Amino acid sequence: MSEKKADRGKWNSKLGFVLAAAGSAVGLGNIWGFPTQVADNGGATFILIYVICCLCVGLPVMIAEFAIGRHTRRNPVGAFKKLGSGWFPPLIGLWGVMCGVMILSFYLVIAGWTVSFIFEEIFYYLGWHGASAWVSDLGNGPKNAFFSILFMAATIGIITGGVSNGIERATKTMMPVLIFVLIIMIVYVFTLEGSMDGLRMYLLPDLSGLNTDVFFSALGQAFFSLSLGMGALLTYGSYLRKNQNIVESATYVTIADMSIAFLAGLLIIPAMFVAQNAGITIIGEDGRLFSSATLVFDVLPGLFKSMGGAFGLIFGTSFFLLLSMAALTSTISLLEVPVSYVIDEHKIARKKAALLVGGLVLLVSLLISFMPSMIDVFATIFNNIGLPLGGLMLCLFLAWFWKAEHAITEIEQGYEGIHQSMVKPVWILFVKYICPLLIALVLVTTLYNLIF
Ligand code: ALA
Repeated sequence: MSEKKADRGKWNSKLGFVLAAAGSAVGLGNIWGFPTQVADNGGATFILIYVICCLCVGLPVMIAEFAIGRHTRRNPVGAFKKLGSGWFPPLIGLWGVMCGVMILSFYLVIAGWTVSFIFEEIFYYLGWHGASAWVSDLGNGPKNAFFSILFMAATIGIITGGVSNGIERATKTMMPVLIFVLIIMIVYVFTLEGSMDGLRMYLLPDLSGLNTDVFFSALGQAFFSLSLGMGALLTYGSYLRKNQNIVESATYVTIADMSIAFLAGLLIIPAMFVAQNAGITIIGEDGRLFSSATLVFDVLPGLFKSMGGAFGLIFGTSFFLLLSMAALTSTISLLEVPVSYVIDEHKIARKKAALLVGGLVLLVSLLISFMPSMIDVFATIFNNIGLPLGGLMLCLFLAWFWKAEHAITEIEQGYEGIHQSMVKPVWILFVKYICPLLIALVLVTTLYNLIF
């Protein structure tokens, strides 16, 4: 038994765990999704509501995922199976694993695009315009498939190294580089004409756009960005040592994720206005700023080209390298969810499990590579509905079946002072009532809007 536990692996250091979990959280959701949402939803007003959603819903759910993971030392399915009897608890875990797998399958295609655009920048600089156009065509199936395979190979390569030697080591290296590149790029963008208009748009609240949809978008974004409801943080929590303070670690991860999203907005929104200054269209026919794929794979490459020469090359390749690294630290955690399931439940060795599950997920990614329009369908089902539903079931299960008090007994290991602190009643209040209510509200409204 103890040997089996040792086989699952453990994080080597407290910082290593925080960086790995932050790496899972920081991804395309921060660098692409967050600025896009800010642009779409009234600038700084969205930022404020987003912070409230992260702190009031995201953080309590994250603490819950870490506590369940560490207490059970299992993958999401095994964890719920261990905590409850009957057929329903494992289904909650299975839902998380399925969401993780399906999100990974389309995430991989977008991650592949971020790598392909590194080549796009290089080819353009070399004057190979045909190759540059080929590699930047988002509808190019064989090219999409090639880069998805490449990305999956890198993800599998890191996962097979194990928890501390693979995942922890890789994220510990990539996260500081990511933050460094991001800050350098922000400093540079503020030296360019037009950036101040972007800064104003980013930081001045536009209350005219405030409606309930902004709140729903913010909560959905918080779930995706914090990697909640997809089994990833529960799985990472299962490798935690008992002496690590779960509340403190979850707070660091949430703050790191929010800060990097904020920094990404500080880069991208001003960069859009620099692009406008260079004659590039950044506002669509509907009067809104361009967002999502158009923003990242159209407006920004246009900006890099307008910079010209070596500057354009360095800025462009750095930006897509940044995106690729952020995506890689997230794909690692997404693949680790089904891999840990196969290791725990089917007793298959890590390397074999990573190859097997990675290969299966890749098959779905290859399908999406040839039909990229499926990304929106998958994102709607699994991000907008799947993650909040997973989070809702997790809160309800923890609070009403496993009981919040049992979770507190787990959390107090590594945080003895919890009984004297306000953290205990506040967390119980949120995980029992406030989070389920808010998440249920978002879910019902999302479903209503989809159906009617
Ligand atoms: N949390 C990951 C992201 O933000 C999935 O991209």
